[in-house]
Amino acid sequence: MAHLDHDPDARPDQRSLVDLASVAPMTAQLNTAGHMEVGGVDLVELAYQHGTALYVMDEAHLRHCLQSYRSELTANWPNSVVAYASKAFICKAMCKLVAEEGGWLEINSGGELAIALAAGFDASQTVMHGNNKTERELAEAIGAGVGRIVVDCFEELERIQQIAAERGLIQKIQLRIKPGVVAETHSHIITGAEDSKFGFGINDGWAEQAVQIALQSPNLELCGLHCHIGSQIFALDCYEQAVEVLFRLIGNLRKKIGYLPSELNLGGGVGIAYLVGQQAPEIAGFVKTVTGAIARQAARLGLTQTDIRLFIEPGRSIVANAGVTLYTVGAIKELTGIRTFVAVDGGMSDNIRTCLYDARYECLIADRAGEPRDALVTVAGKHCESGDVVAIDSSIQSPEVGDTLVVLATGAYNQSMASNYNKQPRPAVVWLVDGKVREVIRREEYADLLSCDVG
Ligand code: LLP
Repeated sequence: MAHLDHDPDARPDQRSLVDLASVAPMTAQLNTAGHMEVGGVDLVELAYQHGTALYVMDEAHLRHCLQSYRSELTANWPNSVVAYASKAFICKAMCKLVAEEGGWLEINSGGELAIALAAGFDASQTVMHGNNKTERELAEAIGAGVGRIVVDCFEELERIQQIAAERGLIQKIQLRIKPGVVAETHSHIITGAEDSKFGFGINDGWAEQAVQIALQSPNLELCGLHCHIGSQIFALDCYEQAVEVLFRLIGNLRKKIGYLPSELNLGGGVGIAYLVGQQAPEIAGFVKTVTGAIARQAARLGLTQTDIRLFIEPGRSIVANAGVTLYTVGAIKELTGIRTFVAVDGGMSDNIRTCLYDARYECLIADRAGEPRDALVTVAGKHCESGDVVAIDSSIQSPEVGDTLVVLATGAYNQSMASNYNKQPRPAVVWLVDGKVREVIRREEYADLLSCDVG
């Protein structure tokens, strides 16, 4: 079998699969039947047995990415926490896997907290986010004993103080700071710019004011500062800029009010390759860049690694390339001189990213994975909108009705943003490892669509 890692002995007819190594799950390979497999499981067989559309994840890949973050941080900044950003993909199995790999969980709502708790995840190792956490969510989070609440606005400072006081507790918090850094990424997922709904600005004095209020609130323990500059970021110097800005703030806070944070949370955002040829940052490079920047800035204030506990919150870079989506080709329309539409049994309900962010994906036909991808097609969904496309102008093997079409790098923000548009039941999620298939989220049935319909 030719592994997707560049195999010098790969025959030319295997090249198309080999070429996809940078975007495919790490155990993806071509099997002797000429089919694509992941985790030792034939994807054509899998589609047949579990139906399509189907989200598939490579468990070894998930673990490998979490372990890379952990080991790079252990080498460069041992006083640190990797809090997996669960919004990228969450279910009980994922929470358990994160716990097994020694990670914390970054959660963003009462719903994500509920899933973490149902999985038995230790609440004290969760970091709770959100730019408008409701009273109910805050009460649930404080009641469950979440490790940190990242406070986003003045109103929350007040609400958390009040709830914690009522319960006679002290809640650990971090403050979300808006560093005014414009990361190079899609405008919808820039979060650290001045014109952002997230966090406390620096130039307007809000950050300093928030620190003062937190320090004066008897039931809040201000552990440190947080910033998240955006998502799908390739240019690591944006992180260095953010660190510089945070330390300028820290220097001023120390001078003015004698405050020094003991925790610094740099959020997530590391970009991944969706297309062959995209040079995404390596996890090691990201960790070295941020820890180097923090070390330099901290040294100027006479601080060392032991003074600052570093948190990071990676999401996409752990799950995106671990996942693929399988569809069955249902119809093919060759519009002469225009384009060829390949219609699949899913679409914008299981992958909204193409519509929302002009996302691009690599696709292939699992049945003939070793053959050249010489047909240029647009993969269209089954929904009632012209904009319902999964992949525009994608090169795949010449498609046939009934083929299993694979869309790569769909592990992050695809299942988590899925909808029931056109009352499409959401697909199952299966994890593959060592030739075994494990269903972690079952396929929705029509009964699920009716379960909340009480009219
Ligand atoms: N921490 C915070 C506070 C965040 O808001 C996010 C993502 C992360 C960490 C994780 O970022 P990551 O490592 O996954 O880039 N739906 C969009 C992405 C939205 C990201 C929102 N925040 C997409 O599909 O591209």
